[in-house]
Amino acid sequence: MSASDSSEEAGGGAAGAAPAGPHRYLVVGNPIGHSRSPEIHAAFARQTGEAVSYERLLVPLEPPGSFAAAVDRFLAEGGRGLNVTLPFKVQAYEYAARHSERAALAGAVNTLAVRDDGIHGDNTDGPGLVSDLQERLGVRLAGRSMLLLGAGGAARGVVMPLLQAGVAELTLANRTAERAQMLAAMFNGSPVLREWGLPPVRGISQDMAKPADVIVNATSSSVLGGGLALPPGIFAGCRLAYDCAYGSRPTAFMEQALLGGAAQVSDGLGMLVEQAAESFFIWRGVRPVTEPVYRMLRASIAVPRTGS
Ligand code: ATR
Repeated sequence: MSASDSSEEAGGGAAGAAPAGPHRYLVVGNPIGHSRSPEIHAAFARQTGEAVSYERLLVPLEPPGSFAAAVDRFLAEGGRGLNVTLPFKVQAYEYAARHSERAALAGAVNTLAVRDDGIHGDNTDGPGLVSDLQERLGVRLAGRSMLLLGAGGAARGVVMPLLQAGVAELTLANRTAERAQMLAAMFNGSPVLREWGLPPVRGISQDMAKPADVIVNATSSSVLGGGLALPPGIFAGCRLAYDCAYGSRPTAFMEQALLGGAAQVSDGLGMLVEQAAESFFIWRGVRPVTEPVYRMLRASIAVPRTGS
């Protein structure tokens, strides 16, 4: 992980004295009851012999400041790090005193880590998605056209890692077109794209979305339990339709994609395990083997990977 000092607006307070016993970690979000992260990290801890405990915490949406107050409390009790999920990833970015380069580019943080020089924010969602697509699903991204649905924190976190993986064309489509355009402009305005020779990002509204080799749903529609209003024909010729969400049954997006003719569909269970492994590495300096943990989770939810 490369750390950059991209933020002066440090919200992260000093960590409390670590109590004896396992180091404590937490996943926070709203909703959070569905999260499988505690099981994943418990499995990583068993596998690596690291003495850690990992719990989940529901943080209220109101009043403003609830997120920072919950993190402050956990760190004051000696907590060593947190995963942050919907809808707090941008607040987690603001909370961190320092950011990894990829978190700085995303403007969103899913991993907070206690360090001697303050609270570090990182974003492991993008690397998790790229690993799952390329290593587990075997879809090489280099040269592919890609459509990313959504323009919130989840989408922001995966744009740069997808570009870095070599996609030839990346289009952002969002229900609220201005948000997609703003996000595209943010990346296009960053010198990183030019310096690294990466392709520009297009931002459009969903009704203009055109077919692509790989379509990724990074909206919160599946978590909120609904489908997406997508133009007909969008999945024709699609090699893989991937939903960053996961659940005990195929998501509405996966069903839409299969009906629409996508060759392969997947939920985001693999991304979840891969991003968790990257967080574990950030916290512990040890990289767990993900495949057995992925298989354990997949067996427990009994949703086939490709749904076909
Ligand atoms: P997250 O951190 O998960 O990205 P977010 O920042 O609240 O959460 O963003 C949610 C994203 O999902 C947005 O892109 C949102 O579209 P809008 O910008 O138009 O609100 C998108 N989204 C959520 N539900 C949706 C739905 N039913 N149809 C289309 N887009 C949806």
